[in-house]
Amino acid sequence: MGILGSEMARCWMIVLIALFWEFQSVVCREVTLPPGPLYRVAGFSLSLPCNVSGYQGSRIQDFEWFLHREDAEGRQIGVVSTRDRGFPYAPFQGRVNSGEVRVERDSGDKARLVIQRLLPEDQGRYECYTPSTDAQYQGSYSASVDVKVITDTLLITHTRILNGQPVIEGTELQLTCAAAVHSTQHTHLSVTFGMRGSTDSGSLGHNLKEIISIDRELRVTPGRGGSYEKRYKNGEIFMEKRSGDDEKDLYIMKISALALEDSGSYFCEAAQWVLDPSGQWERIAQRTMELGNLSVQPLADSLSVSTIPAGEVTLQPGSPLSLTCQVSGVGSWNRSALLVQWLRRGPAGGVDVEVARMSPNGIVSWGDDISSGGGGSMEKGAEGRFSLRRFSTHPVDAGQYRCAVSVYAGKLSPAPSSPATLTQRSEGVMVSLKTKEVSVLAVIELPHRPLLKRGSTVTLLCNVSVVTTGPVQVEVQWWQKKRVVDGQVNLAPGADKGSILATLTYDGMSSIYSNGSEISVDRISTGSYRLRIFSAHEDDQGDYHCKAEVWTQDPHGGWYNTGARAESTMVHVYLYARVADLLLIPLVVGVSSALFVGVVIIAMVTCCFMKRLASQRSKSRK
Ligand SMILES: *[C@@H]1O[C@H](CO)[C@@H](O)[C@H](O)[C@H]1NC(C)=O
Ligand SMILES: *[C@@H]1O[C@H](CO)[C@@H](O)[C@H](O)[C@H]1NC(C)=O
Ligand SMILES: *[C@@H]1O[C@H](CO)[C@@H](O)[C@H](O)[C@H]1NC(C)=O
Ligand SMILES: *[C@@H]1O[C@H](CO)[C@@H](O)[C@H](O)[C@H]1NC(C)=O
Ligand SMILES: *[C@@H]1O[C@H](CO)[C@@H](O)[C@H](O)[C@H]1NC(C)=O
Repeated sequence: MGILGSEMARCWMIVLIALFWEFQSVVCREVTLPPGPLYRVAGFSLSLPCNVSGYQGSRIQDFEWFLHREDAEGRQIGVVSTRDRGFPYAPFQGRVNSGEVRVERDSGDKARLVIQRLLPEDQGRYECYTPSTDAQYQGSYSASVDVKVITDTLLITHTRILNGQPVIEGTELQLTCAAAVHSTQHTHLSVTFGMRGSTDSGSLGHNLKEIISIDRELRVTPGRGGSYEKRYKNGEIFMEKRSGDDEKDLYIMKISALALEDSGSYFCEAAQWVLDPSGQWERIAQRTMELGNLSVQPLADSLSVSTIPAGEVTLQPGSPLSLTCQVSGVGSWNRSALLVQWLRRGPAGGVDVEVARMSPNGIVSWGDDISSGGGGSMEKGAEGRFSLRRFSTHPVDAGQYRCAVSVYAGKLSPAPSSPATLTQRSEGVMVSLKTKEVSVLAVIELPHRPLLKRGSTVTLLCNVSVVTTGPVQVEVQWWQKKRVVDGQVNLAPGADKGSILATLTYDGMSSIYSNGSEISVDRISTGSYRLRIFSAHEDDQGDYHCKAEVWTQDPHGGWYNTGARAESTMVHVYLYARVADLLLIPLVVGVSSALFVGVVIIAMVTCCFMKRLASQRSKSRK
């Protein structure tokens, strides 16, 4: 170093003098090696970069490497040269010939000495020498660095090996590796879990991916690429270091829910690092442990959802209904949240309507299914059973029932926004009710009156006859359809049936929906229901009809809608003007105001004029 330093100083002095006196370009050769000492592990590789600058002549410089062994009293041993095949001394001849020791050129003036597998006797001072191509000897022609070969103490073992048995999507995977290094030199250890994914063709060995690692500064880092960074952020991948026995540390990796993409062959890799005097971390040893193959099966292949009973169920009205949803699989749902829904589709078809659902946290909510009035429960039983119960079943509860199960694989409390891994529905079970033979007929009647005048009370009767056994009650609805004033009536089939005016329920409750004239509804005798419109006015004119629905009692005394219904024909209500208004007509037409004449006119009006008016009106309706 001292000689080298003084040589360099002399060179720079020459350069300065040259610059100062002659202004001509003068260069100094300089050979550079990284600063030492460099610690490398026996059995692993050494790579020593050497470069040269400030030279004259060819851009392609030659490099010759010498080793000064500590025990060789300064004798230099030729290792390898870029220009002379006969250069290596006996200890290196064979290794150079086999390419195990070689020079790799990075560029014309940069080359590295590579020793593939360091031997303990490779320890010593390495000199990189560049033969002169300069006009004058100026600067330094070689540099050297100490290389210490330390013994290999890197250990890595595993505690479990994957046996290639298929596991279900959503299962947890935990892998453990133990690693240790016992070096007198200060070195660090990093451990990485990785896998070689199976490609589409199913062959392993391609597509190498780092899953997660604990680096040389003990930072946990997810592998780049793939989904690992995202899954790590979501807490689905996890790695920790624990101190184990016999001075080995345990490195544990967990994937909380295996995805299909996790199929592949797993390994863990430990690397030993040293901080070189240049300030660079250098990987000086590494060892990989195969952990075996993993094959992840789709959840759909193992999940099955069925109902108990299956097929068909026929019930007496009023009897309880109990359906069980059986969720079975290989068991990965054991660690997964489930959303279980009971759906019903009416006997006539249509869409599935939610009856009840149990969310992953066990909360039961009832859907907008119309049949939910009867009361029931949804309960979670052992081993994936979810039962739906109806305490008393009625015809509205009939239909096809299904349960739908959504699995959040590997997540016990999924965020509300997170999508289910899979949703599977059972086959439908048809629930039908033994219904009574019911026949029903409804007739509407406008009891005959000579004249219905504005301001009088209009009475409409809806007579309902029911033929069946057992007790019955009837629910009656009254409907009005106003006639359009300009005389045009829309008689298209399925045309507007008008609006509902009033309902009298099976248990005698009346509801009035009209906000026009005063209205009342009542039952006047068995099977005869009355609608009255008090002080009827023009707006109450129109076509009226009634609808009847038959209710009956189940064995527990509960009333239920049998579903039997009837609708009457329409009856037309027309209101004549009041007699008091008609008295004004003689004045309008200007006839003499004798009372006698007035009486005659009244008689005529009520007899003939009104008839004509009525016939004109009915003509204009046609
Ligand atoms: C030559 O090598 C030294 C040490 O390895 C390095 O600092 C320097 O940048 C290199 N010079 C060139 C020109 O590559
Ligand atoms: C993993 O799978 C590959 C390819 O199928 C096979 O060559 C290898 O032996 C398997 N390894 C283990 C540990 O089963
Ligand atoms: C589900 O977990 C329970 C304990 O939590 C266990 O006893 C049972 O065997 C598991 N079932 C399956 C199918 O893995
Ligand atoms: C309707 O019932 C009432 C009262 O029971 C009765 O007077 C009327 O004749 C019945 N009308 C028809 C058309 O059956
Ligand atoms: C009741 O009155 C409101 C406005 O006052 C009207 O919009 C509505 O249609 C009326 N309802 C009936 C049944 O006539």
